[in-house]
Amino acid sequence: AAEVFDNQLLTGKHVVITAGPTRESIDPVRYITNKSSGKMGFALAEAAAEAGAKVTLIAGPVYLPTPSRVERVDVIRAVDMYETCMDVVENGCDVFIATAAVADYRPTVTADHKIKKSTEEIHLTLVKNPDIVASVAEHAKRPFTVGFAAETQDVMAYAQGKLVNKKLDMIATNDVSGTNVGFNSDNNALTVIWPSGHKVLPLASKAQIAKQLIELIAIRYKD
Ligand code: CTP
Ligand code: CA
Repeated sequence: AAEVFDNQLLTGKHVVITAGPTRESIDPVRYITNKSSGKMGFALAEAAAEAGAKVTLIAGPVYLPTPSRVERVDVIRAVDMYETCMDVVENGCDVFIATAAVADYRPTVTADHKIKKSTEEIHLTLVKNPDIVASVAEHAKRPFTVGFAAETQDVMAYAQGKLVNKKLDMIATNDVSGTNVGFNSDNNALTVIWPSGHKVLPLASKAQIAKQLIELIAIRYKD
């Protein structure tokens, strides 16, 4: 596959990618998480490395092998992913791609011991997690910042909104209401949007889609 991508579009660039879900503990044996295999982020890390970039992959709990020539940092909670990302951005990077399915909320408290079953109804109080990609886009050492948006309805409108509100350079979106794309699938189709245009990447393997997205990022990043 390397021959497809021997143009070395990202040589000398540091690309940072978040991938997978985060896991927010309720008690020692329970947690809240999001549906995410991490496959798209790992495929992007591999494609970026093949394009000559130095790659840092900040991964939530997923069971995937680390692509060759990729530096991987494993994290569990959203706040840990946030702190790791802020450190990397502070140290300087060129491109940031947020594929992680970050938990929007975490339990306000994590119980020290297993919560015992008692009443018919119990209530869990949640507090918002930091928005990692929006914080990266607001950073003084802001890299070229790319978000992802998996939507089940009004895909383009929600993605456009996120591009603007999070001050992103680009957003890649897919409709996950069907069953043949996104999540645990090995295939994906994306619509990539930037402030002055968009491009459709039709259904293909995540490896192929990753190569195309990395190429698009490399081109837009130079503009
Ligand atoms: N994201 C992030 N940190 C968060 C939440 C989301 O970095 N705390 C990133 C995701 O990695 C993705 C983008 O923001 O690149 C969009 O995530 P999404 O969940 O679609 O957007 P939200 O802003 O969380 O909005 P909502 O879940 O309400 O649609
Ligand atoms: Ca969210």
